[in-house]
Amino acid sequence: MKINALLIGSGGREHAMAWKLAQSPLMGRFFCAPGNAGIGDIAECVKLDIGDHSAVIDFCTAHEIGFVVIGPEAPLVAGIVDDLGKAGIKAFGPEAAAAQLEGSKAFTHEICDLYDIPAAGYATFTSAPKARAYIRQTGTPVVIKADGLAAGKGVVIANSITDACEAVDACFEGSFGKAGQQVVIEEFLEGEEVSLFAICDGQVASLLGTAQDHKRAFNGDKGPNTGGMGAYSPASIVDQDTIDEIMEDIIVPTLAGMHARGTPFKGILFAGLMLCDDGPKLIEYNVRFGDPECQVLMMRLKSDLLELMLSAVDGSLLEHEIEWSNFAALGVVLATRGYPGSYQNGTLVKGKLSYDDGDNIRVFHAGTRLADEGLLANGGRVLNVCAKGKTVALAQKLAYRAIDDIDWPQGFWRSDIGWREVAREND
Ligand code: AMP
Ligand code: GLY
Repeated sequence: MKINALLIGSGGREHAMAWKLAQSPLMGRFFCAPGNAGIGDIAECVKLDIGDHSAVIDFCTAHEIGFVVIGPEAPLVAGIVDDLGKAGIKAFGPEAAAAQLEGSKAFTHEICDLYDIPAAGYATFTSAPKARAYIRQTGTPVVIKADGLAAGKGVVIANSITDACEAVDACFEGSFGKAGQQVVIEEFLEGEEVSLFAICDGQVASLLGTAQDHKRAFNGDKGPNTGGMGAYSPASIVDQDTIDEIMEDIIVPTLAGMHARGTPFKGILFAGLMLCDDGPKLIEYNVRFGDPECQVLMMRLKSDLLELMLSAVDGSLLEHEIEWSNFAALGVVLATRGYPGSYQNGTLVKGKLSYDDGDNIRVFHAGTRLADEGLLANGGRVLNVCAKGKTVALAQKLAYRAIDDIDWPQGFWRSDIGWREVAREND
């Protein structure tokens, strides 16, 4: 039986998900709100106010949509899955209570405390003077975090007491709105950062793989933090023993804890981890795929994504073996000059953006829009050029060769995505 589906989101992550979802023999009519120019080739893009849950429900009813997949975190934290559920519409992603794993850093720390999950030492504050006193007592480096969702901007790693206190003041003065009403101060963890993804059905977590993002804007991990400038998968620094340790000590107890609280977690659990000398520690949870990590995972996934997501919602993940390509994948983000600061929309993007051999090279759209004059950049992160290869080094070569064929003078990208892994492969 085919099912009509609606995907919510507009980034490279959603283009990659749309590409995999559309391959499913189960897919009926496929819509995306709001989508982008790339997604428009795969699904019917619709203008919908995602924040207006009754409008989303009305659209689903009118188009006989049986399944909604949510890409970004904000609608999940806002309870879109709860509201769709009440209207009898199946949706992939956690309900609001379970989305607190991303929606509140203090909440995640409490879960970690309760279930002995390795994470950074921390304290939480609701007023600046106490937070400042704590910082003076613990010293630096120290990590200051707005408790709530802050679009990836709510974290400051402070190397001086002055910087740390300024970060605290910025939170309480409203830089992050409600998200900064509570501040979490964390011990600074040293090590290499990696991500691990699991798909969860409330009781069972199935590993989706590992990846490494590149958060800084410029080569050599320099410059301001961004949403992510490129990624590769798998990250070999997380060997099988470490994966087992992360699943056993972090993911499984989290899932069991959420279930025991009566707020079972269904959806994608994305663990940001630090590989410390004394083992992996949780830095943060996200309750959705990473962007651009999703794009490289989708390049490697062989299984039917729609079927997997449906089984996560139905609680039958155990019946599914997830199949992966033996190849590695790497993706490079092309961004508008100025990103992550201010930048201009509307520049013309030309060149080769599609490949017959789409399984080995794919250009996912992030912020793009189709106009009479052609394809226009419409956001900070605009394209993701992804490639597969026997090694990360080979995938890297292929991706950068494909970028040479894109003509977009107003764009920039890092030329060293995957550098840690390539160095390891050369070792
Ligand atoms: P988050 O939004 O919590 O992922 O934090 C953003 C980035 O800050 C992470 O990807 C890490 O690079 C860094 N970070 C966050 N928490 C810590 C920590 N406790 N120790 C070291 N680095 C951290
Ligand atoms: N690339 C990091 C994230 O999606 O949160």
